Amino acid sequence: PSEPYDAIIIGGGPGGYVAAIKAAQLGLKTACIEKRGALGGTCLNVGCIPSKAMLNNSHIYHQTLHDIKKRGIDVEGVSLNLPQMLKAKDDSVAGLTRGVEILFKQNKVDYYKGTASFVSPTRLSVLLNEGGETELDGKNIVIATGSEVAPFPGGAVEIDEKQIVSSTGALNLQEVPKKLVVIGGGIIGLEMGSVWSRLGSEVTVVEFLGSIGGVGIDEEISKQFQKSLAKQGLKFKLNTKVLSAEKSDGKVFVKTEAAKDGKEETLEADVVLVAVGRRPVTTGLNLDKIGVEVDSKGRIVIDDQFNTTVQGVKCIGDVTFGPMLAHKAEEEGIAAAEYIHSGHGHVNYGTIPSVVYTHPEVAWVGRTEQDLKAAGVQYKIGKFPFIANSRAKTNLDTEGQVKFLAEKETDKILGVHIMGPNAGEMISEAVVAMEYGASTEDIARTTHAHPTLAEAFREAALAAYSGKAIHS
Ligand code: FAD
Ligand code: NAI
Repeated sequence: PSEPYDAIIIGGGPGGYVAAIKAAQLGLKTACIEKRGALGGTCLNVGCIPSKAMLNNSHIYHQTLHDIKKRGIDVEGVSLNLPQMLKAKDDSVAGLTRGVEILFKQNKVDYYKGTASFVSPTRLSVLLNEGGETELDGKNIVIATGSEVAPFPGGAVEIDEKQIVSSTGALNLQEVPKKLVVIGGGIIGLEMGSVWSRLGSEVTVVEFLGSIGGVGIDEEISKQFQKSLAKQGLKFKLNTKVLSAEKSDGKVFVKTEAAKDGKEETLEADVVLVAVGRRPVTTGLNLDKIGVEVDSKGRIVIDDQFNTTVQGVKCIGDVTFGPMLAHKAEEEGIAAAEYIHSGHGHVNYGTIPSVVYTHPEVAWVGRTEQDLKAAGVQYKIGKFPFIANSRAKTNLDTEGQVKFLAEKETDKILGVHIMGPNAGEMISEAVVAMEYGASTEDIARTTHAHPTLAEAFREAALAAYSGKAIHS
């Protein structure tokens, strides 16, 4: 090999590609190795982006069928062109992944299409996609190999990506299934369940826990969210465990067991979506050969500066600790590059937002009410419903609320939970406020343009700060 790289990144997902661009921008000689044949990782290829394309377009279809008449728009002969909807999704993916490749060129990141494995802590072997092998030396190596669908424990449900699908198959069904059973009421289950429900499937979500939305959602919001989705037609079986799924006569039979009394039931489905979580990808990297430690869940162990147990080898994103979110991986990518460049970097794990892109959207940042109760923190609450917000009213889109949680004594914002139109955009305001250590009074005294949905945000802060909102 020629001159060693300052930084080599393994994996071209949101963690890896952002780390590579940032490292190059900081003047480091940088390479990124990606085996998929396209940049952008899970997020751009089979995750965030295609799912949001399907969510947006299925929402428009559903609105056209069920919502626009009351707005004074009469349309006739509305029908679904699923191949075109899938193509629109594929086009967004292709455009964005190509865009990252252009960014690599602009920033002078060397892009290797192939599969990397460690030869030593400073040398990687790359099996090139086009055939052959090359070796690269790096003074620093960042592992950003991401995550993959977790298989169903015990192999009792086998994914074929046609009838029993993961999120990847669920993003590419060629027909609308009459009956869709979703195993897992976490974010993937609810987003993909919403898509196919809007397109005409009867959707039943089977969730092991007593509530939906996955880890970190506020319990009150989770209940409202479930009611809202139920109104849209999704059925929920909570406190219910899936035992197995078997294919027979073109159908899938899903066996479930109630947590309370062990009662078994069999659900018939045309398609089953398995959405029970994701697991880190480390196979084939040769980690044990160089001594990189992995924990019992398969995650690469790191310290608070992204160092693995081997000097010079760092790790970021889904393959290590923390929430499996694209923006979390990106923040870590930037910080890891900064650590390599200058020895300093920063990620605030207390202010990483979560968004569920259903309709209404659900978004949150910081602590939940159940968290604060359990920790014995004295807190106050301020809420404001969108039904009392003028813009939501004019938009005929009034479901949900904004909820602030603040420290009782200091008024410092501890958490913000939103269900409502544009919650995913609005949560950024909460993130900025929390980054600056704001109080609810700070938000309450900040002018918000009228008429906007964001006024609901300010009113909830006002309710938390002074005990009363103006408009409710
Ligand atoms: P990844 O994106 O998984 O990228 C890792 C890359 O490394 C892969 O492309 C892989 O091919 C490559 N790789 C692995 N091993 C090797 C090797 N040995 N050599 C070379 N290359 C290798 N997050 C959000 O924040 N918002 C969302 O809306 C959202 N929606 C999602 C929807 C779905 C259906 C799914 C499945 C996930 C979604 N996520 C979302 C999660 C998000 O996709 C991940 O958190 C994010 O992609 C993690 O980024 P990463 O860079 O750590 O890993
Ligand atoms: P998840 O961990 O969010 O949810 C899985 C759910 O399945 C849990 O609620 C769990 O209790 C349930 N479950 C597990 N085993 C079960 C069984 N046998 N029977 C019934 N229920 C069972 O995982 P999910 O939804 O697969 O998502 C994976 C990751 O992808 C998440 O960490 C999420 O952060 C990320 N993601 C993020 C999105 C976003 O930010 N909008 C969108 C989609 C995914």
